[in-house]
Amino acid sequence: MNTNPFKFGTVVDDEFFTNRKEEIGKIHSILSSENHLILISPRRYGKTSLISKAIKALERPYIFLDLQLITNIEDFTSQLLQKTLKYYPFEKIKHFFKSFRIIPNISLNPLSNEVDFSFNPTMSSSVILEDALNLIEKLSTKEKKIVVIFDEFQEINKIDKNLDKKLRAILQHHKMVNYVMLGSQESLMKEIFEKKKSPFYHFGYLMQLDKIPYEEFFDFLTERFEKIKNNGSGLSKEILEFTKLHPYYTQQLAFNVWENLIKNNSEDIKEVILNSVITHDNDYERLWGLLNKTEMKIIIALAYERKSPLTDEIRTKYMLGASSTVFSSLKKLIQNGFVVKINSSYEIEDPFFKEWLLMRRAN
Ligand SMILES: Nc1ncnc2c1ncn2[C@@H]1O[C@H](COP(=O)(O)OP(=O)(O)O)[C@@H](O)[C@H]1O
Ligand SMILES: [Mg+2]
Repeated sequence: MNTNPFKFGTVVDDEFFTNRKEEIGKIHSILSSENHLILISPRRYGKTSLISKAIKALERPYIFLDLQLITNIEDFTSQLLQKTLKYYPFEKIKHFFKSFRIIPNISLNPLSNEVDFSFNPTMSSSVILEDALNLIEKLSTKEKKIVVIFDEFQEINKIDKNLDKKLRAILQHHKMVNYVMLGSQESLMKEIFEKKKSPFYHFGYLMQLDKIPYEEFFDFLTERFEKIKNNGSGLSKEILEFTKLHPYYTQQLAFNVWENLIKNNSEDIKEVILNSVITHDNDYERLWGLLNKTEMKIIIALAYERKSPLTDEIRTKYMLGASSTVFSSLKKLIQNGFVVKINSSYEIEDPFFKEWLLMRRAN
């Protein structure tokens, strides 16, 4: 059976993961020290996959919390506690709860066999949070040092407006835990960790995750295509040219190219791209509708030009307006995920969206 060897959308590991050996080595060395790690990249570059893989290899207890899915401090705290119990059975650590200043309501869920935590609305959420985080610090030992991972950390102040301050005040006293913060909105993440007046200023080692290097990705694709085809390198080259090495879109396109090979015996990559674009026509139309006029013009300029929309030439040609306007629009486009900034040049994030735009305008 030739099952599709490509995967996109969720965390990848094992045969779906290209090695990132250097990054894993770096993460291991940071986490075996007393330092904390901050990992930044645009969305879908592989942060969650990378950290999951690196952490599993460490064989240390870890608590993973995706802040995007958390609604308030009580929720944050109960998830922390629940995940802690995965490593430390309730029976063994229940005496710790006696020292909590506010005792949470603890109940056993007979369906899942998990312990649920809940809090009365009158309880002070800051106190509960502090007790829970301090419990993790107490459980951690030199031999089995706990790693706590906060994914999508840029969402921190959406959970509660002063959560960054509260959290920092607690974490700064911890010596037995390594904290890892992942984040996909670079500007926000840099504001949190690089701005002097931010509570998390210089909290840990800041690591920027890049796309996967050409050689590595090329070999990864070719090796897999050659299971069903004699010369896979031509396909790999064409795929990477289109996706510009973006991890997610590369896997997505490779997945569909593989399907087309198996089902229709066709190697036509253009056809696969066209089909994806047509399938998502509605989504792209909706996305386009979210943009204002200046943003539309900037996206159009980015689709046709290699030069930055900030240059005089491009601003004039596409009637973009003052450079300060272009600059602030670009910033917003980056925040909303339409555009990414890579080594000081701007790109449309989704190569299929770009293709959609070019096709629509050529019609
Ligand atoms: N090391 C890798 N090798 C191959 N594909 C990867 C790798 N890392 C990420 N990807 C691709 O990118 C997608 C998004 O990865 P994910 O870890 O969710 O990114 P992020 O957390 O940065 O948003 C994955 O589903 C996979 O298709
Ligand atoms: Mg992620």
